[in-house]
Amino acid sequence: MKVLVSGGAGYIGTHTLVELISAGHEVVVYDNFCNSSPRAITRVEELVGQKVPVVRGDIRDRACLDRAFAKHSVEAVIHFAGLKAVGESYRQPLSYYDNNVIGTQRLLEAMEEAGVRSIVFSSSATVYGEDAPVPYVEAMGRGRPSNPYGATKAVVEQMIEDLARADSRWSASLLRYFNPIGAHPSGRIGEDPQGIPNNLLPFISQVAVGRLPELSIFGDDYPTRDGTCERDYLHVVDLAVGHVKALEAKKGMTSSGVATYNLGTGRGTTVLEMVRSFVQVTGQRVPYRIVSRREGDLPAFWADASKARLELGWSAEKTLEDMMRDSWRWQSANPEGYGG
Ligand code: NAD
Ligand code: WQD
Repeated sequence: MKVLVSGGAGYIGTHTLVELISAGHEVVVYDNFCNSSPRAITRVEELVGQKVPVVRGDIRDRACLDRAFAKHSVEAVIHFAGLKAVGESYRQPLSYYDNNVIGTQRLLEAMEEAGVRSIVFSSSATVYGEDAPVPYVEAMGRGRPSNPYGATKAVVEQMIEDLARADSRWSASLLRYFNPIGAHPSGRIGEDPQGIPNNLLPFISQVAVGRLPELSIFGDDYPTRDGTCERDYLHVVDLAVGHVKALEAKKGMTSSGVATYNLGTGRGTTVLEMVRSFVQVTGQRVPYRIVSRREGDLPAFWADASKARLELGWSAEKTLEDMMRDSWRWQSANPEGYGG
């Protein structure tokens, strides 16, 4: 299939490009590079041995989207573009609604105009909200997300569901990611956060590589086995393969509509277990200190991953050791990310 990949230059987007192209699909990237570098695309081109067409544009720019759809006859969109920093979303909620909600609305309008009615959307486990019991199951529906970022994901899910209900020609997969980490095993592409990382593994890697002095662990008094928070970490390459499976499931699909899938491993790991595993696999030192809890953190959540296994034939295959080894390969070979 020919696929437009919005946000294709980002962390998950680049890994998905590699898996899409390896599976024989054609891609066009649509990205404004607000949180990524064109160098990431060059690295993807090196990995796959072919050029990757790129449209530099914003998803809020309808005219630019229309030109992209007119130039490239795509059959589906994988939609990664958006802002994703939870802390920043508290400080700049309007920017999050503008990029994530209005941006997606513009994209859906342009798709409608171009007659492209198939979309795979990057959603998040955060849509289950603060009060959901674990493990999270798709049938539970959406709860009350604890932050504006999560709220934008819930609104977009609803918008896509409403659209598909109004017009049966639309087909959508809402993929709820748990905690993606790791990097391509080549060490050529990986996560390159701007500034101080918000997420755990990029922070650990930057401590190990000497960019940051120590890790602050946010709380050790949670009701978990060692008192630190528990999450469902999955390898970004497994996640990327999940997108290919979701896309291919649409092919030959007789009924349209919306399908929602958790993409996670089904297993939780605590923060202390993450640090220990990283140290064990890489042999690096990771000094840490326990500090107070971070606002908005939930004690523990992980996926019930059975729906994606049964309906998409997808399950996470890589181990925590793979995630640590590949993260470190990327970080140690590219200490300054794509900027180095
Ligand atoms: P990322 O920031 O690395 O990639 C997002 C890409 O979108 C970047 O290349 C950025 O330049 C581009 N972009 C942002 N706003 C845009 C706009 N208005 N127009 C055009 N391009 C724009 O993030 P990621 O980690 O690859 O995440 C991809 C998607 O997955 C996001 O929607 C994110 O919310 C979602 N998600 C990520 C995680 C995670 O932990 N990384 C978890 C759940 C969901
Ligand atoms: C994991 C654990 C922290 C950093 C967020 C978003 C979610 C999704 C993924 C989407 C937590 C602890 C972290 C640090 C720490 N993003 N931690 N010290 O919060 O589960 O999920 O990212 O696009 O929507 O909410 O991931 O990696 O930030 O934190 O102790 O310096 O590590 O408290 O328990 P989180 P995370």
